[in-house]
Amino acid sequence: MLDLQEKVIHEARQGEAYAPFEGDPNPYRKKFYIESYGCAMNFNDSEIVASILNDEGFGATRNMEEADLILVNTCSIREKAEQTVRNRLNVFRGLKKDRPEMLVGVLGCMAERLKAKLLDEEKLVDMVVGPDAYRSLPALINEADGGQKAVNVLLSREETYADIAPVRLDTNGVSAFISIMRGCNNMCTFCVVPFTRGRERSRDPHSILAEAQDLFARGYKEVTLLGQNVDSYYYTTPGSEEEVTFANLLALVAQVSPQLRVRFSTSHPKDITDDVLQTMARYENICKCIHLPLQSGSTRVLQLMNRTYTKEWYLRKVDRIREVLPDCAITCDIISGFCTETEEDHQETLAVMAYGKFDLSYMYAYSERPGTLAQRRYPDDVPEEVKKRRLIEVVDLQRQLSQQNFEQEVGKTFTVLIEAESRRSDQDWSGRNSQGKVIVFPKEQYELKKGDYVIVKVHSATSGTLIGKIESIVEW
Ligand code: SAH
Ligand code: SF4
Ligand code: F3S
Repeated sequence: MLDLQEKVIHEARQGEAYAPFEGDPNPYRKKFYIESYGCAMNFNDSEIVASILNDEGFGATRNMEEADLILVNTCSIREKAEQTVRNRLNVFRGLKKDRPEMLVGVLGCMAERLKAKLLDEEKLVDMVVGPDAYRSLPALINEADGGQKAVNVLLSREETYADIAPVRLDTNGVSAFISIMRGCNNMCTFCVVPFTRGRERSRDPHSILAEAQDLFARGYKEVTLLGQNVDSYYYTTPGSEEEVTFANLLALVAQVSPQLRVRFSTSHPKDITDDVLQTMARYENICKCIHLPLQSGSTRVLQLMNRTYTKEWYLRKVDRIREVLPDCAITCDIISGFCTETEEDHQETLAVMAYGKFDLSYMYAYSERPGTLAQRRYPDDVPEEVKKRRLIEVVDLQRQLSQQNFEQEVGKTFTVLIEAESRRSDQDWSGRNSQGKVIVFPKEQYELKKGDYVIVKVHSATSGTLIGKIESIVEW
């Protein structure tokens, strides 16, 4: 069951290789193949990398056999994430035996964490490039072509890639990510991100707005604003009085068009403001879904994690969200078995979950990461089998909560953005409501396409999907 859980997470979050991208003006001189792991920000970074490589005459391919350059954009968040990447590097090693001129590059968080050590550990790797160094990829490729090992893992206080238009990879043409900030200044003790992504910095709102406008003009209907802690977005234009907070930014993006849905991730319970909630309430097109990671329901453990909120603070946030946004979904992240976690602490986590009635949670067993504060300060003292058993209890409770939650939606009508044909049948559409729940419904006689909005009445629910019928088409 744990494996299943991991698999679900991977299906939702883990990328693949990509086809030649939209508007691909091939022929390119060379081809690159890229795989992405980890969070949405990493996927969006791969789109920035694609843009940089595109300008260098590299076209994307889904077929690694024909690639001149193989890139893997990596994640370090848990031990298992790194193991997955090492397994992939083994596969690439096989390819390189036959084609020694092919280059292999490691990008992203594992590159940043291990730096040049990665070259010693994984002999076949030619390039190691950290998340703030993608502009130097063309120079690094040249170096590697010349037979040198190429490394750039410098972190920056300014880099936001604001001027680079991401090349949308593997797109459905309806939804796209926009990174609004990079890095993280929080020091959650379990977390490797501050070390792999560096200091927090916010991207110029004008460039964010221009990207949203451009996407909308090209037919996209949903943007997700990305940051490790979006609520601490803050931008001041040098030499001017202009100040933009996350609430301001949300409103600006929402004003691009009422037909453009706006989502965002991730909020930190200590930082999400009333202003953000009020802005969400004001704009119908800001989706009513907040990802609000809890991590633990025990104040003592939260303190050890340096999350800087208490259980009560978290519960009050949930109450406030329900007050201002009664139809808002709340989703969550939970870590089971953090250092010193007792059975009582674990019970408190279950109790907060039951109170929060989360729509969905991503749930993990604690994985000690080298160099983090927790690794230096606290023993990883919850035995593996106890972590796993607690995680199973957390997963089971979430399954019940999700099921109840889905059953409550039966009989309701929702505005649904059509995102794709259903995977099960080409006679059905699949889309999501504002709360992010997937709804599948028959196409019937209507002339609809991806990116259209429809009103759908839900008549039944399976685990994870609502099934409905079209009531009407939304005319704009
Ligand atoms: N910035 C986001 C989280 C990014 S990492 C936030 O603050 O919420 C995504 C999730 O991975 C975290 O919320 C946490 O639940 C999980 N995670 C991070 N480090 C972990 C570790 N060492 N072991 C297990 N899970 C971890
Ligand atoms: Fe990691 Fe905490 Fe930053 Fe999230 S807020 S990325 S968990 S340090
Ligand atoms: Fe992983 Fe780095 Fe994202 S560690 S979760 S890819 S910021």
